[in-house]
Amino acid sequence: MEKLLIIGGSGLLGGHLIRYAKNDFEVVATYKHHPFKMDGCRSIHMDITDRKKTEHLVLKEKPDLIVLTAAQRDLDYCETNKEEVRKINVEGVNNVAEASKKVQAKLIFLSTDMVYDGKKDHYIEEDSPNPINYYGDTKLKGEIAVANTVDEYAIARVSFLYDWIIFGHTSNFVAWIFRNLKEGNQIELFTDQLRNATYIKSACHALINIFNKNENGIFHVAGKTCVTRHYIGMKVAEVFGFDKDLISASDSSKSDWRAKRPRKCCLDVNKMKKRLGVNPMDIEEGLLAMKKAATRWD
Ligand SMILES: NC(=O)c1ccc[n+]([C@@H]2O[C@H](COP(=O)([O-])OP(=O)(O)OC[C@H]3O[C@@H](n4cnc5c(N)ncnc54)[C@H](OP(=O)(O)O)[C@@H]3O)[C@@H](O)[C@H]2O)c1
Repeated sequence: MEKLLIIGGSGLLGGHLIRYAKNDFEVVATYKHHPFKMDGCRSIHMDITDRKKTEHLVLKEKPDLIVLTAAQRDLDYCETNKEEVRKINVEGVNNVAEASKKVQAKLIFLSTDMVYDGKKDHYIEEDSPNPINYYGDTKLKGEIAVANTVDEYAIARVSFLYDWIIFGHTSNFVAWIFRNLKEGNQIELFTDQLRNATYIKSACHALINIFNKNENGIFHVAGKTCVTRHYIGMKVAEVFGFDKDLISASDSSKSDWRAKRPRKCCLDVNKMKKRLGVNPMDIEEGLLAMKKAATRWD
């Protein structure tokens, strides 16, 4: 059985990826602040900002595939804690890339739609990145570190991930809407920011297929439709039978965000479809899949 090392296993995507891959791979997954236990996976502590320990651990484990999901991904936190974030999202990624090269493991690096500026309506993988916030800037530098260091690598630019929560300390937008509507809380959702909402199980399928199909390079790993938060909220209410009147429309000029966000950042997913054989879901299909799935809700 091939060995998969998930760096960031305690995170939103990492937890789902463990579940998705554990029957087909020997899975080792890392945490930094949030230790966890999951059947079919060995969990270990790792801080990617520590170059020596990262190298030691990767050399000891000798994985065939490393999926690097670990990051600081809070856009506003990134804007105000630049040095700390650079150490994780740039230096840390470089440390993992160097270690991957030493053991000749394939490295799949999780990046973001935030590498684009949102000035184009629709992005393909060949479009030039031009981040407008510090988070996007560090993720792009991480991409460059991976591409310059590792021979066998892929960069998966994901966007607006959603699914049930596996670990209580993680979060995502759909789960937040679900909880609020279930509790009968009024929520305001923006009508002016468009992104591809991405069902996490589809993303896991694409990541594993990158490895199984021996693909390299940059991939948009995202859902089919580019939608606003308000649209997502209405769909959550529709699919799960909540009161739509709890949702009111707002726009992002009313937000207290520190980091700039692209107004519209829509990803073309044809390469994922053709090369990885993964059919992207629209938001309704993803929500219906969530409804059907066994849930774990803290
Ligand atoms: N979520 C989204 O909608 C979204 C959108 C676009 C791109 N992405 C990208 O997708 C990837 C996964 O996102 P996610 O939502 O799963 O993130 P997440 O839930 O915030 O998880 C982040 C993970 O990184 C780990 N980590 C943080 N600092 C670390 C360090 N110094 N050393 C080692 N591990 C460290 C955390 O460990 P502990 O929790 O144990 O401390 C956690 O496992 C990220 O690279 C992100 O940039 C996510």
